[in-house]
Amino acid sequence: MYGAVANDAVTVGSAERVQTGTAGIEERIAELLGQMTLAEKVGQMCQVNVGDSYIHDYLAEALKAGRVGSVLNEVSVDVVNELQRLAVEESRLGIPLLVGRDVIHGFRTVMPIPFAQAASWNPGVVRDGARVAAAEARRSGVNWTFAPMIDIARDPRWGRIAESLGEDPYLASVLGSAMVEGFQGDNLSGPGAIAACGKHFVGYGAAESGRDYATTNVPENEMRNVYLRPFGAAVDAGVATLMTSFSDIDGVPATANRRLVRDVLRGEWGFDGFVVSDWDSIRQLCIHGLTADDEGAAFEAARAGVDMEMHGDAYANHLERLVEAGRIDPGIIDTAAGNILRIKFRLGLFDNPYTDPDNVPNPLDAANTAKQAALESAVLLTNEHDVLPLDRGRLASLAVVGPLADAPRDQLGTWIFDGDPNLSITPLAAIETLLGDDVSIRHVPALATTRSRDVSGFDDAVSAAAAADAVLLFLGEEAILSGEAHSRADIGLPGAQAELVRQVREAGKPVVAVIMAGRPLTLANVVDNVDAILFTGHPGTMGGPAIADLVFGRASPAGKLPATFPRMVGQVPIYYAQKNTGKPPTPETVVMIDDIDPGADQLSTGLTAYHLDAGYTPLFAFGHGLSYTSFCYENIRCSRTELRLGNSLTISAELTNTGERAAVEVAQLYVRDLVGSVTRPVRELKGFCRVHLEPGESKTVEFALHTDDLAFYGRDNGYAAEPGEFYAWIGGSSAAELMTAFRIVE
Ligand code: NOJ
Repeated sequence: MYGAVANDAVTVGSAERVQTGTAGIEERIAELLGQMTLAEKVGQMCQVNVGDSYIHDYLAEALKAGRVGSVLNEVSVDVVNELQRLAVEESRLGIPLLVGRDVIHGFRTVMPIPFAQAASWNPGVVRDGARVAAAEARRSGVNWTFAPMIDIARDPRWGRIAESLGEDPYLASVLGSAMVEGFQGDNLSGPGAIAACGKHFVGYGAAESGRDYATTNVPENEMRNVYLRPFGAAVDAGVATLMTSFSDIDGVPATANRRLVRDVLRGEWGFDGFVVSDWDSIRQLCIHGLTADDEGAAFEAARAGVDMEMHGDAYANHLERLVEAGRIDPGIIDTAAGNILRIKFRLGLFDNPYTDPDNVPNPLDAANTAKQAALESAVLLTNEHDVLPLDRGRLASLAVVGPLADAPRDQLGTWIFDGDPNLSITPLAAIETLLGDDVSIRHVPALATTRSRDVSGFDDAVSAAAAADAVLLFLGEEAILSGEAHSRADIGLPGAQAELVRQVREAGKPVVAVIMAGRPLTLANVVDNVDAILFTGHPGTMGGPAIADLVFGRASPAGKLPATFPRMVGQVPIYYAQKNTGKPPTPETVVMIDDIDPGADQLSTGLTAYHLDAGYTPLFAFGHGLSYTSFCYENIRCSRTELRLGNSLTISAELTNTGERAAVEVAQLYVRDLVGSVTRPVRELKGFCRVHLEPGESKTVEFALHTDDLAFYGRDNGYAAEPGEFYAWIGGSSAAELMTAFRIVE
């Protein structure tokens, strides 16, 4: 197959190209490994940052010497092709490169941030967005993205919640798998496919107090039942690669965590792709205080099963010596290099490492896909007196106020290295286009940025509001306030925005707030001062047209929150799938310190798990989201009330559109396992479906549930469903009240 090359001899460019196809890849890997020197194998394990569209001499030499397996952050197709040429034509064995890039929620065309996409509860939206992103990135020569981020995020202070798919392991599993499918297509070697990377393995989202990179402490049972689940699902969906987390987890940073990477991921799950470190996270093992030097760090990471080092040079500088000194088994290096080669074969890079942008077809219309995603990602949080949708026929004038009405860059959100703000259509532009000359529009930004405290523009805003028939307020967080290393301790509206809301309210006109943000915000002070709130996350390139359609009723919102919105930041972490505790609060046991004149004896009656100043309920529950119509759930039924392990039942309810508009409702199934060998959450999402209903129309929503769907890691971390009694709810949020029960018998 390959040009016959003696161990250390260099025969540049003579390697016969290997043909791929899925069959025979393992033989080809073995054959190739047989020809590689230790240095070349270690070379596959090294990734180098390029980043400035220039190939430095040291990089060219390293490529020719077979000392680089992957590059990242180069998106000029000509430069990427030249890098591939150096690797393929001028190195001894001609092994092509993986070209990595953070393609998180779009490439040129930007989809809503992943947190907003998760609010669509629509795997199709997530899959299509990733397909568009993959094709656009592939045209630049990128063949590997560092997405999806499938960290469970239960702390809105954490800036990377923006990049997450929310708080729930089931939702994140379904949507994360859809994103993997979107990036990778049916076949990794297809024209618009790129390798995906599930990250960050594992527990990164549990950073103490939401400070990015902070320590995480997750007990094994919770790790298995919550944090590992989306990764297991991604592996089942065929994700090509995984990335370790930056964080220290129970004393052993993830990048050195042999128990998680080698034992669970490889041993238990049989993952056959490769594991990459996060950016320089191998050398950071020294900073963590786990190892004294880079050699120790390389040793720990390689033994843990981290196949490739992103950006640092601990592997390049130390691995060969560690093997030669007998400290690292050469088999570890063979396995790591083999895992990386496997993905290169699957990507078809040995057949053709080069990119011809004209040969990467458009899978879908990028702008339409982005608009549909933004439409489905918006969540209607409140809508007093059905103020939305606005009736353009009854509007003569409209005030468009706030720092995010016309902010093409900020509506794209975090992680948009390649996103083009020039493609953005802002809400202001879209509303002007939609309303034409029929309605007079006055635009007042009022604040220079969302953080601004300069209120000198408020008078203008208030007079615009007073002169208008309705006010649209565009508020939230500018893009820079969320994302990596952008955590916040106060998750209210930044700057003077809350004061802006208060003053605009005094103009006495209907006020609608559209909130663009990278995280759940504490909005208690906004709810009372506006008539409606539409939460859009950062909605991406086509956010404007989507918002305009929603505000003026050309579409009805159907998004549902993928994370709980607290009343106050002090409630965090607050998530729906909490444990019951031994002293669960009820409305009867809760006495609030701001209730009228609570005596000290009254305050002491509520010996249950709540905050005196916040109660125990969130502002908006996980799964919450209104529509322009109303829905009624009734007649919940189980197809059987008793079943044996290994069997299924169906849980159904009648869902009726009781309002006057056609709309989509996301019906949700929650289950509680009343007694377990370990305590179980008060509710767990077990299924959801999107139902389109015309006014007055009813449909039966049905969820099939196998006892395997009720399995969990129990007291000894064995995975099984346990006999006993279960409650089940079907409804439009995690606060659904329509309940039934069934029992699993031995
Ligand atoms: C660090 C981030 O944690 C990771 O998610 C990202 O993929 C890498 N940097 C590369 O940019």
